[in-house]
Amino acid sequence: MRNFMILTDECPSLLSVPLPHTIHMKSWQGSGNSWTMYIHYHLHGIGELQDFGRVASALNWHLTTNKDLRPGRYNGPRIAADAVARYYPRDRYQKKVIDIAAGTGFVAENLKARGFQHIDALEPSASMIAMAKKKGLYETYYENMLNDDPLNIETDTYDCAVSCGGFGEGHIPCAGIKELIRITKPGGIVCIVMRQCYLIDVEEYKDRLVPFMISLENTGMWTRVSRHVVQDYFIDLPGVVFLYTVQ
Ligand SMILES: C[S@@+](CC[C@H](N)C(=O)[O-])C[C@H]1O[C@@H](n2cnc3c(N)ncnc32)[C@H](O)[C@@H]1O
Repeated sequence: MRNFMILTDECPSLLSVPLPHTIHMKSWQGSGNSWTMYIHYHLHGIGELQDFGRVASALNWHLTTNKDLRPGRYNGPRIAADAVARYYPRDRYQKKVIDIAAGTGFVAENLKARGFQHIDALEPSASMIAMAKKKGLYETYYENMLNDDPLNIETDTYDCAVSCGGFGEGHIPCAGIKELIRITKPGGIVCIVMRQCYLIDVEEYKDRLVPFMISLENTGMWTRVSRHVVQDYFIDLPGVVFLYTVQ
């Protein structure tokens, strides 16, 4: 059991909370701006929702109180919504979308601003779901983790499965992609947006995630539309946007 490592006095209730995982929260000095928080968290071996809830409530604190996750610093949700909207220039109001690892609903806010209306959420943290519910963003909420277990969602349900920030240390394993493909209609899209460095820094993804995506293409499960690096995904860190159509 390791202690929660936190380098801030902004969140006193979380100081020295023992957790079975490690969270690193590094201080970061913005360019000429006041002191800011740079959340960089690592959850090794996360598996149980009970543990997960404790970690999620730590993050919740930041999502509700920390201005540094505002657009301009955390641009992932806008980047994800732009990628989906570019693929669907018309009839967005008819498309059925699921936001995977929905958090408090930043991606849905951006999708709605671009005309998408039918959005479901999959998110394992009850407290994050409660916050998203207050915003009235989603039609159906699935309080689940995405991993290699089958979700309680019909095959070929969605025009789009989008995940922004869902791929990170201790988050969605590579195998979860198969479920994304299963619940997406043939001709629909899967859009994954994540920090680029996680492709190397996260053991689960290093030399595995991209090769797994390629192997799924080679077996005819999906086809790559695009894969590109974007600047300033999170503060000044680049992200990567994967877009695939399901076969
Ligand atoms: C960095 S947040 C991103 C939230 C939201 N998509 C956004 O961009 O604001 C990561 C989210 O992934 C969720 N998560 C972690 N592991 C997951 C898993 N295996 N399946 C689904 N969601 C997961 C967490 O609860 C958290 O809400």
